Order: sequence, then structure tokens, then C-alpha cells
Amino acid sequence: MSGRLQGKYAAITGGAGGIGRAMAAGYIAEGATVCIADRSLEAAAAAACELGPQAHACALDVAEMASIAAFTDFTAARGGLDILVNNAAVFDLAPIADITEASYDRLFAVNVKGLLFTLQAVARQMIANGRRGRIINMASQAGRRGEALVGVYCATKAAVISLTQSAGLDLIRHGIRVNAISPGVVDTPMWQEVDALFAKYESLPVGEKKRQVGLAVPYGRMGRPDDLVGAAIFLASDEAEYVVAQTLNVDGGNCMN
Ligand SMILES: NC(=O)c1ccc[n+]([C@@H]2O[C@H](COP(=O)([O-])OP(=O)(O)OC[C@H]3O[C@@H](n4cnc5c(N)ncnc54)[C@H](O)[C@@H]3O)[C@@H](O)[C@H]2O)c1
Repeated sequence: MSGRLQGKYAAITGGAGGIGRAMAAGYIAEGATVCIADRSLEAAAAAACELGPQAHACALDVAEMASIAAFTDFTAARGGLDILVNNAAVFDLAPIADITEASYDRLFAVNVKGLLFTLQAVARQMIANGRRGRIINMASQAGRRGEALVGVYCATKAAVISLTQSAGLDLIRHGIRVNAISPGVVDTPMWQEVDALFAKYESLPVGEKKRQVGLAVPYGRMGRPDDLVGAAIFLASDEAEYVVAQTLNVDGGNCMN
């Protein structure tokens, strides 16, 4: 521990598992107190219990405006946030001809609308508290270019990159820094779902897509949740004070832009 986030209060949406949980552990190791805010309160509470006294849980469904308001009140009552990681997201996959309205609405409700209005609510809180906050959005290599079977998810993540730029440019006048991290392929519960969907649409054995994408990463393997933690600490720390409205690829070399 080097104390780069000493005394800071951070919230991580979707922090109960996968990348968000690894980030929570990293933030705690750097001295932060972390609110694990997840759609599943049970999973958030279990993660907070494992992470120790610097972690606590809060129910948050980013797709529900009332839930975002309750989350903002919860964090305000604990002194207000210094750091928000907009990490919650959902995935789906289908050829263009098979995309359903329900799938489109679900992905945009969580990945775009949920991210934007959580960011807005927390930014309002930070402004009211006179806090020079840091907001980190989770984008994806899927937002850098389209993919034949991943049209809707790719579009949501392209929107995250765009919103990061707009929010970053707007909120810097309040001293709030907004940036994003763009992971490549990371071995988490989400990728179990991705692999199962590719198995269905590409007639592959379960596990084969995961093996293929791992082999294709220039670094030589799929990412692990811990691979994202250093970038999340950096962007939340004073070391990134002059980094504004950027999306940082942390993907083992998959993307260049
Ligand atoms: N895993 C990858 O390969 C990968 C690659 C690029 C980007 N990402 C992005 O990184 C982030 C984390 O991904 P992950 O792989 O850890 O995902 P994950 O599915 O393993 O975990 C996501 C978490 O979000 C929570 N969640 C889902 N919907 C929610 C909602 N409406 N409100 C609050 N919480 C909700 C889930 O309960 C879960 O705890 C996501 O934004 C994802 O799009 C992941």
C-alpha cells in the first residue's frame, strides 16, 4: 500500500464481482473506503464482508432512476463521494437480423442511460460538496469498432467513450476529472456468458471462443480482473491530475486507438 487514495470515498457500480470487485480491493489497498454498489445487494454484501471494514454494500440498479437517487443519498450520508467507477454493464449477442427490441432496451438502459444518470447524480453531489472528484467509466474494445454479432453492446460502449469525452470536457470546469478504461477480453462471469452465446451462434464447443480470443491477444493471454486495477488507481489518483476525457486501452495490445 502506498496510500495514493488515502481518505478517499469511492463507489464502484457493479462492484460485487468481476473487474469491479478487483478494483474495490485495489482501492482499499491504497487507503480508500469503498461502497460496493450492485444490483445484487446479497452479492455486494458478501464482497464487502470479504474485503473488510473499509468496504460496505449498497443496493443499486443503475437502470432505475429512483435507485440512483437512493444510492446518491446513501453515499451523501457517508460524507459524499470522491471517486465513482461506472462499471455496471450487461451483455448480449445476436446477428443484426435477430436483435430484439427487449435486448436493445436492456443494454442501453444499463450500459448507457444508467451510466449517464449515475454519473450525473454523483457529479451533482461532488459539485455541491466542492469536491474535485474523479469519475471512471468502463468502456470496452467493443466500443472502438463494430463486431458482426455484437452490434448493440458495441454501440453502447461507443456511447460510453463519447459520453466520457463530453462529460470530461463539461465537468473539468468544476475540477471533476472524467476518464474511461477500455478493457479487451477479461476472464470474468461476463465472459462465461459471452462464451456461451458465441458457442450458440458460431456452433463452437463451450470454452472454445474464450480460448481463441485469449490466443489472439498480443500479450499472449486473456486479461484477468487484476490487470485493470493499476489503471483504475492511476486515473483516480493525483498522478492523473492532467488526464481529462480520455479512454485508456488496457487490453494486452488488442487496440491501438
Ligand atoms: N469482461 C470483459 O471481457 C470486459 C471487456 C471489456 C469491457 N468490460 C466492461 O467492464 C465492466 C465490468 O465487466 P465484468 O466482466 O466484470 O462484468 P460482470 O458481468 O462479471 O460483472 C458486472 C457486475 O455488474 C452488476 N450489474 C449488472 N447490471 C447492473 C445494474 N443494472 N445495476 C447495478 N449493477 C449491475 C452485476 O451484478 C455484476 O456484479 C463492464 O462495464 C463491462 O462492459 C468487460
